[in-house]
Amino acid sequence: MSIHITAKNGEIADSILLPGDPLRAKFIAENFLENPKQYNDIRNMLGYTGLYKGKKVSVQGTGMGIPSISIYVNELFRDYGVQKAIRIGTAGAIREDVKLRDLVIALSASTDSGANKIRFGGRSYAPTASWRLIKAAWDIAQAKGFSPKAGPVISSDMFYTENPDDWKLWAKFGCLAVEMETAELYTLAAKYNREALCMLTISDSLVTGEATTPQERQTTFTAMMEVALETVVS
Ligand code: HPA
Repeated sequence: MSIHITAKNGEIADSILLPGDPLRAKFIAENFLENPKQYNDIRNMLGYTGLYKGKKVSVQGTGMGIPSISIYVNELFRDYGVQKAIRIGTAGAIREDVKLRDLVIALSASTDSGANKIRFGGRSYAPTASWRLIKAAWDIAQAKGFSPKAGPVISSDMFYTENPDDWKLWAKFGCLAVEMETAELYTLAAKYNREALCMLTISDSLVTGEATTPQERQTTFTAMMEVALETVVS
């Protein structure tokens, strides 16, 4: 047991998917895993372990934002020995060529977060995905007929920013989309020498102001799930 997760040793798989929303964890477990068993419900942050194509996989909600994902990923890596973690989430497009429903593979994550400022004492760190998982996800997505976009993203501490044009600076420097967790996942994977990746579907666009409907989000999320599951067991 760790502070925020009640699983016993061995109840969490080496390979894990990390949606922000705990109800997505439940949805994935119930719709994609064989024989899923819930191992956590502290704070309703649901976690399950089951089988995908005969291989043991877990899926754990992380909540929104860097402080929340940091708690769960620290405990999963340090206390449960998780080896491979794939965040599956949504993001806002910040470039015109990134469209609603696109699949984005986050190669790296810049951040405005306080976390890495504290951790690195004001120095700058470049949170980067596992090359092996990038390549596996890319190949699996292509084979399934998707045309993912791969590039850097920005992990922001603020959903409601004081300056509504904040995202434009990140877009100018090549970031494709804004979300709120990936920089911490990649930083912790480096710290613990584990593999991590983040796959995102575009739920809204800060460029055009458009947003997907909840139904569209469910459909695109489900398509991404199959790529994520195939990748995490690869
Ligand atoms: N900002 C931050 N995180 C997000 C957004 C956004 O616009 N859309 C989806 N996740």
